[in-house]
Amino acid sequence: MMSVDNRLEGRLALITGASGGIGSGCARTLWDAGMSLAITYSTNKANIEALVVELKSSDISNPSRRLSVHHLDLESDSSISSLFQEIETTHDHGPDVLIANAGYAKVIVRAEDISLEEFDRALTVNLRATFFLVKHCLAYMTQQHWGRIVFISSIAAQGGGINGCHYAASKAGLDGMMKNLAAKLGRSGITVNSVAPAMIGDTGLIPDPKMLEGTPGDVKNIPVGRLGTPQECANVVEMICKTGYLTGQNILLSGGLK
Ligand SMILES: NC(=O)c1ccc[n+]([C@@H]2O[C@H](COP(=O)([O-])OP(=O)(O)OC[C@H]3O[C@@H](n4cnc5c(N)ncnc54)[C@H](OP(=O)(O)O)[C@@H]3O)[C@@H](O)[C@H]2O)c1
Repeated sequence: MMSVDNRLEGRLALITGASGGIGSGCARTLWDAGMSLAITYSTNKANIEALVVELKSSDISNPSRRLSVHHLDLESDSSISSLFQEIETTHDHGPDVLIANAGYAKVIVRAEDISLEEFDRALTVNLRATFFLVKHCLAYMTQQHWGRIVFISSIAAQGGGINGCHYAASKAGLDGMMKNLAAKLGRSGITVNSVAPAMIGDTGLIPDPKMLEGTPGDVKNIPVGRLGTPQECANVVEMICKTGYLTGQNILLSGGLK
């Protein structure tokens, strides 16, 4: 029987944007799976501190693993480089798993209203920074011949959602980059996939379903009749991380919404 290594326990996951809804869900799930974590926040220090308290209080099984918190500004190349130096110092090696979750999603619907500055910011935070995160991860993953890279994309990349073309372009770019990387990195033991959530509640993007009323994301347009949850996103992320035969795929998690 061919040996297959899908073990997560004891490996290190970097999760960007763990101060937010989907990122904190991923942190809880991968922590429960026995991983060490490096988690980031940008402005919401209180949220990440509360998450750390919660995670540490649930840590009964594996006292040797590590949990580190890092400030990260994805608009700054030096902030991204510092993140990897900090991870190296704390964990003695780079991430085995990258969950590139943090994203910029200011809602501006009409192209006429999207300034060049807003377009550039969406591309910088959501796409350019993700490329730089990947670049920092590759040396260690290649050396280990094992890696999992997951991009949190969006239904917007497929023409849906509630936001404008700046956001859609940035997320579609992620999906294109994912497919290229998956084809290039498979032989190095590294899988690359993306998850395209839509209408996930309990997040900074959608704190209240009322804000969706009258938009394409209105709950009455969602076939399953409700918003998704951060935990459901985390379930898909964990499945990807535990399934090394899956690569180059974009998984739409939208309750049936197109
Ligand atoms: N919620 C949905 O229905 C939905 C749908 C499609 C795609 N998504 C995607 O899911 C991902 C997570 O979003 P969410 O829904 O969980 O919203 P959220 O709760 O607002 O989380 C966004 C996260 O991104 C971080 N972030 C934002 N700008 C950043 C920057 N410049 N540098 C570093 N970190 C930054 C935030 O940090 P701070 O809070 O600390 O500032 C926060 O942790 C995003 O990529 C989003 O585009 C969400």
